[in-house]
Amino acid sequence: MRSLSAFAILALFASSTIAADVVYKDRNGAELPPIAELAKRTGDAAKGATSFAPFCGICHQINGAGIDFGPNMSDVGTRKTKENILESILNPNAVIEPGFQAEMIKLESDEMAMGIISAETETEVTVKAMGGAKTTLKKADIVSRTKQAASMMPPGLHAAFTTEELVNVAEYLFSLKAKK
Ligand code: HEC
Repeated sequence: MRSLSAFAILALFASSTIAADVVYKDRNGAELPPIAELAKRTGDAAKGATSFAPFCGICHQINGAGIDFGPNMSDVGTRKTKENILESILNPNAVIEPGFQAEMIKLESDEMAMGIISAETETEVTVKAMGGAKTTLKKADIVSRTKQAASMMPPGLHAAFTTEELVNVAEYLFSLKAKK
């Protein structure tokens, strides 16, 4: 399955760069300039779309394409600045998008579910796991629910890209505006 192999690649990147004051490096090991400076650069949005699909489309939908797990990006350029977008890629834990905080749920059966709450009623809660699969759990079967401080978007994804590719991805996302 395509998405599974992409997750394996992801795990590699994520494990390589988790630290508070990391120096961010691109795929070639070149140090990235500060976000404010990167945000001033103009990228190639079409090329950015090509980079986005395999590394980001496994968790984000754009106009119906990709997997519905993280926030839909079809209008991200209206909601966010290019600087915000770059920050989200370099440091996903800094700002967690409202409604996308992860929860760890323990069930009486000793099973666990980890994901984003996509729906909730008085008696049930629906958890969306990485990959987009949804499971509806009865609240009566739940022992505990713990909100996770960390984003379900792994840090270190920028290391999939050259500096130019990263700028292209930011340019692409910023070009996606809400349809009137
Ligand atoms: C494993 C799943 C996953 C992958 C892969 C992933 N993201 Fe995310 N992303 C999320 C989740 C979940 C959130 C919401 C939580 C948060 O804000 O950190 C998010 C949030 C974001 C946001 C801010 C939310 C918004 O609506 O403004 C941006 C921008 C973003 N991701 C871009 C990217 C880009 C670019 C890539 C590829 C380099 C990528 N993501 C890869 C899961 C993922």
